[in-house]
Amino acid sequence: MYNINENLKIMIKTIVLKNRPEGKPAVSDFEFIRDNDELSIKDGELLLETTYVSVDPYLRGRMSDAKSYTPPFELNKPIHSGVIAKVIESKNDKFKTGDFVSGMLDWKTKQVATGEGLLKVDASKAPLSAYLGILGMTGLTAYSGLTQIGKPKAGETLVVSGAAGAVGSVVGQIGKILGLRVIGIAGTDEKVEMLKTEYGFDAGINYNSTENMTAAIAEAAPKGVDIYFDNVGGPISDAVFFNINQFARLVICGAISVYNNTELPKSISVQPFLIKNSALMQGFIVSNYEKIFPEAMKQLSEWLAEGKLTNTETIVNGFEEIPNAFIDLFDGKNLGKMVVRVEI
Ligand SMILES: NC(=O)c1ccc[n+]([C@@H]2O[C@H](COP(=O)([O-])OP(=O)(O)OC[C@H]3O[C@@H](n4cnc5c(N)ncnc54)[C@H](OP(=O)(O)O)[C@@H]3O)[C@@H](O)[C@H]2O)c1
Repeated sequence: MYNINENLKIMIKTIVLKNRPEGKPAVSDFEFIRDNDELSIKDGELLLETTYVSVDPYLRGRMSDAKSYTPPFELNKPIHSGVIAKVIESKNDKFKTGDFVSGMLDWKTKQVATGEGLLKVDASKAPLSAYLGILGMTGLTAYSGLTQIGKPKAGETLVVSGAAGAVGSVVGQIGKILGLRVIGIAGTDEKVEMLKTEYGFDAGINYNSTENMTAAIAEAAPKGVDIYFDNVGGPISDAVFFNINQFARLVICGAISVYNNTELPKSISVQPFLIKNSALMQGFIVSNYEKIFPEAMKQLSEWLAEGKLTNTETIVNGFEEIPNAFIDLFDGKNLGKMVVRVEI
């Protein structure tokens, strides 16, 4: 316990963005700062100790200064992402010492927060890290994109790219619960095996060892593709377009295969596929669907408790490992949600 009133000097570690990455991010794009800060909280504030940090592909976009749906990270300022933290001192009536909260917080071992945008999370209902994944942003993304844009009907065929990752693994499992034929695309044989044995997908394709992706998708989806949940973009998605059915829905969630590009990607033109199939292609940001978050959380929690959903996480230990864990997403080192456990 830290006694704020005595203005103890507390060692705080912070990670700031040092450079805007060129291509794939490198550890040298990040800087660690160690301060002996005197942390004191005012009325309405909380002192938080970081427990888990979420690393996510979308953070790559915020590290560049291109215009997007959120402002870029500032150079030499702390990076922030989804964080689970423990309240170690509170002058805010809504939170008490010992509570765990989730929110968009700085990559710092300890920090002062106002309480705005923080949600209490219940460690007795699910592991704390799950609130950054299946019961957090990535689970909500999977549920919202699939149900609101994919509009699945039992018996249809769903293809998911990035299928063994945080969003993709949940999308495919929801697809199975809703009675779809589910085909997952991932980057290793181990991942493809997991899709079938752990999650019950009907088929899996390793895009790294498959020469003709268009033919492999046609074989796995003999009745064609009704819903494509796209996490990766690029040539994998091009191969799916050749297999879509009339009135197909293409749910554009992410495009990790091009996030590190330094030149404009060369892709086929999607318009003829959309026209001849009267297909819908829609991009989205999870926050578009805030209105259905309570319903989504209730449903995801129920399916998890009933054992219908499997929660897979790759947990990396140590605050110092946050940049590496983030970079590893681009090499497919994670199964399910990549999370860093911060050891104090
Ligand atoms: N729209 C939204 O609101 C929203 C919200 C959350 C996430 N997203 C997006 O959804 C996608 C998945 O996010 P996530 O958090 O679930 O990440 P994730 O899938 O858990 O991790 C990234 C995965 O991407 C795959 N990958 C990396 N480079 C690739 C490449 N060049 N080509 C194909 N696959 C590649 C890797 O798996 P393999 O081994 O299979 O290659 C890696 O494990 C990302 O594009 C992310 O930006 C969007």
